[in-house]
Amino acid sequence: MRLLFVGDVVGRAGRAILLEQLPLLRARWALDFVVVNGENAAGGFGITQAICEEIVEAGADAVTLGNHAFDQREALVYIERQPRLLRPANYPRGAPGRGAGVIEARGGARVLVVNLMGRIFMDALDDPFARIGQELDACPLGVGCDAAVIDFHAEATSEKQAFAFHVDGRVSLVVGTHTHAPSADHRVLPGGTAFISDAGMTGDYESVIGMEKAEPLRRFTTKIPGGRLEPALGAATLCGVAVETGAAGLARRIAPVRIGGKLEAAGPGFW
Ligand SMILES: [Fe+2]
Ligand SMILES: [Fe+2]
Repeated sequence: MRLLFVGDVVGRAGRAILLEQLPLLRARWALDFVVVNGENAAGGFGITQAICEEIVEAGADAVTLGNHAFDQREALVYIERQPRLLRPANYPRGAPGRGAGVIEARGGARVLVVNLMGRIFMDALDDPFARIGQELDACPLGVGCDAAVIDFHAEATSEKQAFAFHVDGRVSLVVGTHTHAPSADHRVLPGGTAFISDAGMTGDYESVIGMEKAEPLRRFTTKIPGGRLEPALGAATLCGVAVETGAAGLARRIAPVRIGGKLEAAGPGFW
């Protein structure tokens, strides 16, 4: 299978390049399944029904979230009705929506998608290492699903790397999100799981993690908030990873994807 994961879409600039590029990439690379992290899609904070529908219509099979999952209150209700929209699976019991789902790819294959959050420098959630064990026991790769994609939304690279080795050989892809800058450590781990510490954001990089520079600079230099954080509106870069899986659902190869904006372009040479 051919999978594409797109990192945190930030605000209008991020949505613009995603909606422009995703239909083209789906066709050009003959993608079987696309996952988009949408936790910052609505003005940098959360997601709305209209935006989620736009992303799905553009070609996303699943939309994952993170610590900003419920910044837009309508998501609390909408997520119950939208099986393609996933919030972190290790949220407290009783949180709306679901953190994992088996979603059918265009060709009929079943893809397990799980969203989890790390706990280092983040909210104190349930143990993601224990939680993924439960999810994978319930839906083993090659038995309950044909591919498995884990969006591990975390701040610390150490936790992301440890998590990837924890599930190596049991899932197709562990992709880190949340730090909003692409890392260069994409590779297939010894057990056959593709991994990258962070996919990077889909947004304007002439910014501080997607936000207009002035306000973060003011806060860092004076410690006095002077206004709201607003997404930067310059030309955005679409960032993510392309992954090809083999017969057992494990990864054959992974490549970074960077299209548009200020970052150096990258794409899968193997397609
Ligand atoms: Fe984010
Ligand atoms: Fe985040």
